[in-house]
Amino acid sequence: MIKIAPSILSADFANLERDIKAASSADYLHVDVMDGAFVPNITIGVPVVSSIRKCTDMFLDVHLMVEKPVRYIEAFAKAGADLLSVHLEADHPTRIAEALRIMGDCGVKKAAALRPITKAEAVLPYIEELDLVLVMTVEPGFGGQAFMESQLETVRRVRALIDKYNPACELEVDGGIAPQTAPLAAEAGANVLVAGSAVYGAADIPAAIAALRG
Ligand code: DX5
Ligand code: ZN
Repeated sequence: MIKIAPSILSADFANLERDIKAASSADYLHVDVMDGAFVPNITIGVPVVSSIRKCTDMFLDVHLMVEKPVRYIEAFAKAGADLLSVHLEADHPTRIAEALRIMGDCGVKKAAALRPITKAEAVLPYIEELDLVLVMTVEPGFGGQAFMESQLETVRRVRALIDKYNPACELEVDGGIAPQTAPLAAEAGANVLVAGSAVYGAADIPAAIAALRG
C-alpha cells in the first residue's frame, strides 16, 4: 500500500490550517525544515511545527534539512513531530547516531535522509534502528524541481538493504513526484511518496492525492 505525504512547502503559509485540512485524506504530512546553510533556502522552524500540531492529528513527518541536526531533535520532538529525518551529510556519523538516539529517547520515529550524491550503502550503520529511509529525488532546497530518474537506482538499492536488514523500515522518496513519476518510484521500491507541487498546485487536492496513490 502506497502512502502519500503532501509537503506543505507548496502550501499557502498564510492559510496553512486550511491547506493542511485540505490534505487530510493523505497518510502523512511532510514538513520541510530548511536552515539556509545545509540548503540555500530558509523555511520553517520549531514554533510552526508546534502550531501545526495543534490544528491536525495527521502524522507529522518532519524533514530536517539543517546542519548539525542533533541540536534540534528534542525541540522538534516536543513540538509534536511524529518522525524526524536527519540528513546523513549534515554531521559526523557519531553525531548522526546521537541524533537517532535522542529520537528514541523522545519517542519519535527515526529516519535518515540521503542527498542525491550519497550512496545507498551510507544507511548501513543505522539501518536496523531506522523506521524510514528518505531518498531525495531532487537536490534538496526547493519545491517544483524535475524528478531525477537517476535516483531510481538508489531507491532500488536501499529497498534491497531494507529487505535484507529491516523489512519493517519504510522507504520514502521526495522531489518531483507527480502522477507520471509516482509509479516509477513505487516500482523501484518506495512505499511513501512526498509531493508538494503535485498536491498543492492542483485545483482538487483530494483528487490529486488519490491520483498519486495510483
Ligand atoms: C525539497 C523538499 C521537498 C519538496 C518537494 O527540498 O524536501 O519535500 O517540498 O516538492 P515537489 O514535490 O514540488 O518536488
Ligand atoms: Zn522534504
